[in-house]
Amino acid sequence: MGGPPPDTFDAARPHMAALADALSGSGAIRTPQWRDAFASVPRHVLVPTWFEQEQNEKGITVWRQRRATADVRHLAAAYRDVTLVTALDPASAEQVDDTAWTGVPTSSSTLPSLMAGMLEDLSVHDGHRVLEIGTGTGYNAALLCARLGDRLVHSTDIDPDLITTARTRLAQLGYQPQLTAGDGRTTLPEGHAFDRIIATCSVPAIPQAWIEHTRPGAVIVTDIALGIEGGLVRLTVDAGRRATGRFTATTGRFMPARGTPRTYPRPHRPRPAPEADTRPTPLTASDIQAHYTLRLLLALHLPDTELVYYVDDATGTTSIQLQRDDGAWARAPFTADHTVTYGGDPGLWQQAEAARHWWNTHHRPAHDQFAYAREADGDAAVRHLPTGTVWPRAERLP
Ligand SMILES: C[S@@+](CC[C@H](N)C(=O)[O-])C[C@H]1O[C@@H](n2cnc3c(N)ncnc32)[C@H](O)[C@@H]1O
Repeated sequence: MGGPPPDTFDAARPHMAALADALSGSGAIRTPQWRDAFASVPRHVLVPTWFEQEQNEKGITVWRQRRATADVRHLAAAYRDVTLVTALDPASAEQVDDTAWTGVPTSSSTLPSLMAGMLEDLSVHDGHRVLEIGTGTGYNAALLCARLGDRLVHSTDIDPDLITTARTRLAQLGYQPQLTAGDGRTTLPEGHAFDRIIATCSVPAIPQAWIEHTRPGAVIVTDIALGIEGGLVRLTVDAGRRATGRFTATTGRFMPARGTPRTYPRPHRPRPAPEADTRPTPLTASDIQAHYTLRLLLALHLPDTELVYYVDDATGTTSIQLQRDDGAWARAPFTADHTVTYGGDPGLWQQAEAARHWWNTHHRPAHDQFAYAREADGDAAVRHLPTGTVWPRAERLP
């Protein structure tokens, strides 16, 4: 675990100030309190090593380990506005050479501009008690400690090793927030009603436990995963235990909350239905890739559908493919010919085309025109505010 030597703290100060200035300049930081927090928390103490994606000499995409603290000249690397991946799923990770692995990330230090936007959206005030779901490196927890005092900060992570490491590194900075290991969807610290909950992993629905552990007026900022797409919502919990609010102007996605410490379950891939037909379509892979709100509408029109990238081994053509558990699939290539090829239910792509039609006839609305509501009984829906169009959601979390 070996933390960085204390003399690196002073060397890092200009980098901390530069990051805080850059985030203020871009508008991610909007208040002096959060500027001060970013300028006073040394990220490299909480993230001394990380993995960066690169192609190795064999053309394989690998995660190369980097270190901020070997040399003070390398400190700046920890203060870039980039996500730093810090843990890989051991079930999928394979060591490729001395410092490189393949595998699926299971923890990271989030993009600082995204953290800043979410922390601003959380609108904390002095005296607020805050719970973070997804401690990871502890950097976000440290920022909360800098802003509110460590006594009022709680943070939980599914991986007990991450909690142990974060606790040690936070203590090096003089912070002792209340850290717990557990599934932040169901197991929250007892004995407190939180004023704010911020989740840095995504959930498909707002867990009942979050509603039970907040006071009326509490704000929840989280990534809601709606299948094909999802996004950040800022919800207010009212006295009737409804949680309602909008998709935020701040955009970003997080790794999903999982039920075990270090491993994501292997996705269930159904046997694909036989290829049925190829036909012209107005919905292109490029449009889906380029337009966030279009993907959000695909998610709303096509619950229980997954979006994957499909590479045809024979032609090398990449397509966007939608697929469902019943084996239905449909894919559109990133080429100039506007066609869809599908197998199984032809309604799958027809629904996707209906989503595109809705998007176009409603003048391609911005995502923050959509609201999310979770009723007290767990029912949830997304609503387009200008027209009142509602898409109910079936997912519930205990
Ligand atoms: C993007 S990282 C969090 C970044 C962190 N806030 C930081 O500042 O470094 C997401 C974290 O969520 C954690 N996580 C995943 N599933 C979880 C769950 N069910 N409950 C709590 N934490 C979970 C992961 O272990 C991972 O550390």
